[in-house]
Amino acid sequence: MSNAAISQAVEAIRSATTITVLTGAGMSAESGVPTFRDVQTGLWAKYDPMTLATPEAWEDDPALVWAWYQRRRAMLQAVEPNDGHRAVAEWASTADVRVVTQNVDDLHERAGSTDVVNVHGSLFACRCDTCGRHHEVEAREPDGERVDPPACECGGRVRPGVVWFGEMLPQNAFAEATARAEACDVFLLVGTSGVVYPAAGLPHIARGAGATIIEINPQETDLSDACDITVRATAATALPEIVSALR
Ligand code: OAD
Repeated sequence: MSNAAISQAVEAIRSATTITVLTGAGMSAESGVPTFRDVQTGLWAKYDPMTLATPEAWEDDPALVWAWYQRRRAMLQAVEPNDGHRAVAEWASTADVRVVTQNVDDLHERAGSTDVVNVHGSLFACRCDTCGRHHEVEAREPDGERVDPPACECGGRVRPGVVWFGEMLPQNAFAEATARAEACDVFLLVGTSGVVYPAAGLPHIARGAGATIIEINPQETDLSDACDITVRATAATALPEIVSALR
């Protein structure tokens, strides 16, 4: 662990009033959240996740896509938030810390974070593909490759509430994420490769607004050069260290 970087990060955060935390898949890695490809085992191995997570796949074979997302939702119920999620939630109880996540899991919320902005939607925000109505749907491991999606009262089909490749981000979520990037004194980038826009543009917006940019990631990323401080460590080790040093 590079303690010098942790100390630099703590110093920068001490003098901040508002902190925005942008998290990616690396935030949930230590919870054992199956990434896109981890889900592709057994009968799912023959499907390419990149083609399943698209509007075209939904139109072409909604029962296959719905079963795949039911599997991902069921797998998520078997994992827990990690010490990184819990550190962020605890931190927000004593400071103005706002979370923006690219992840579609619910681990920030389950760790106690409130008011999380999900710029790529959420596995648990199912909605009608026609009228947009929200639907609460129990996550259940499918017993086959296809499960017909539930029907909405309007006659539409209930779809996963995640952003598919080629779809626009939820406008209000991205507007709020942008506002949080513009308003913060410190922008903390945790566990994202920074290759998917427009979310990856948020650190640049924060920098343009004068924020100090801190990256927590064991690897270098496309955004590392734009960061003022880089902590080469994992989320579940660095975040608890930083938060306990701030106490
Ligand atoms: P990626 O899988 O692209 O990047 C994960 C990042 O987390 C990498 O930079 C890893 O080095 C880092 N990492 C791995 N383990 C870590 C740990 N324990 N602690 C901290 N960092 C760790 O995931 P994202 O950047 O989140 O979009 O991907 C962004 C978007 O691309 C996703 O939201 C998804 C995908 O297409 C949609 O679904 C629309």
